[in-house]
Amino acid sequence: MYDTGKILGGLIVFLVLATSPFWINALSTSSVDIPEFQAPPNGATECVEAKDYMRPSHMDLLNTWRDDVVRTGERYYTNAAGATYEMSLSRTCMDCHSNKAEFCDACHNYMAVNPYCWDCHVAPQEVQ
Ligand code: HEC
Ligand code: HEC
Ligand code: HEC
Repeated sequence: MYDTGKILGGLIVFLVLATSPFWINALSTSSVDIPEFQAPPNGATECVEAKDYMRPSHMDLLNTWRDDVVRTGERYYTNAAGATYEMSLSRTCMDCHSNKAEFCDACHNYMAVNPYCWDCHVAPQEVQ
């Protein structure tokens, strides 16, 4: 007979070890807040969409923009409020968020994400 208890115990130990990078990360960062919001140096007070949407979903919006531009040639985006923006990472997002190091990079470093976009797209000249 197999020893179900031992097999289960072994499985649990394996799962805990295999997933440890994730939960160690979660535990060790849970007490710290994400970096404080750094306002755009140009004085803008609104993003292309609501902040509550932008924070979790800006990467999805950027993917949609890229696909629209590259696949359909459409270059303009109308947001929920009816305002129109050029769908451009460098000319639109980074025109406002020209403080890339303190804004995008600070949060990404904190979250341990490293978008490769700047291999090709022009990053803004840093403004202090
Ligand atoms: C017209 C200026 C402007 C443009 C263009 C703009 N943003 Fe924003 N963004 C802002 C402002 C202002 C806020 C804060 C909004 C608020 O407090 O309601 C913000 C908020 C955000 C947030 C949330 C930050 C947080 O701490 O929750 C993210 C992420 C973001 N923007 C990314 C982007 C990306 C990616 C683009 C391009 C797709 C973009 N923004 C285009 C001005 C802009
Ligand atoms: C408040 C924190 C925060 C800010 C500010 C922020 N990001 Fe992000 N960003 C994230 C997180 C978290 C992820 C990873 C989400 C995931 O993996 O699901 C991410 C992912 C991305 C990705 C996708 C990367 C990938 O490899 O999947 C892109 C592109 C991106 N961000 C662009 C930007 C740009 C451009 C700015 C500045 C205009 C910015 N972000 C500002 C938190 C932030
Ligand atoms: C290998 C080079 C390369 C990389 C890496 C890359 N892009 Fe692009 N991207 C392009 C090219 C080329 C175009 C088409 C330019 C045009 O037609 O204006 C484009 C277009 C875009 C557009 C629409 C046009 C514009 O001016 O922004 C967006 C948005 C975009 N990419 C977002 C991203 C994001 C977000 C990332 C990172 C997750 C990324 N790209 C990584 C090459 C790249």
